[in-house]
Amino acid sequence: MSDTPFVAAGEAVAIASDHAGFALKSVLKGDLETLGYTVVDLGPADESSVDYPDFGHALAKDVAAGSVKAGVLVCGTGIGISIAANREPKVRAALVHSEETAAMARAHNDANVMAVGARVTEEATARACLKTFFATPFEGGRHARRVDKLGAV
Ligand code: RB5
Repeated sequence: MSDTPFVAAGEAVAIASDHAGFALKSVLKGDLETLGYTVVDLGPADESSVDYPDFGHALAKDVAAGSVKAGVLVCGTGIGISIAANREPKVRAALVHSEETAAMARAHNDANVMAVGARVTEEATARACLKTFFATPFEGGRHARRVDKLGAV
């Protein structure tokens, strides 16, 4: 297991949502800033109705290009926006709902995007997930072989 932080303080992390995730996005953005990250907010700017694929695709593009090290996505359930992000082969977006799933997403799947559902996850739980996600290193070993296979398709 590596001691290298998943994302070091000062590095860039993107965040995006749809209208259903807008309020939680604002909260999680503040938490990312508190962790010391440079946060790139890809929108939306308010709760006007938008389409989650537009925001999931935009964030995935930035993660794949390397302009940000990781990302956080929020929609109503977290499902649609994570599906959108996972269309990008270099993205491993994990929909989390507990600290355990957030930890496993990093330790076993080397997820580079955390997705959460604002309508199905308590704010405190989502915040705890974010903290755990960014604090958990990838375990590597047998998991590295499996993650490599994800990228081989
Ligand atoms: C928007 O109403 C809702 O469908 C969206 O936020 C998300 O839950 C889709 O997966």
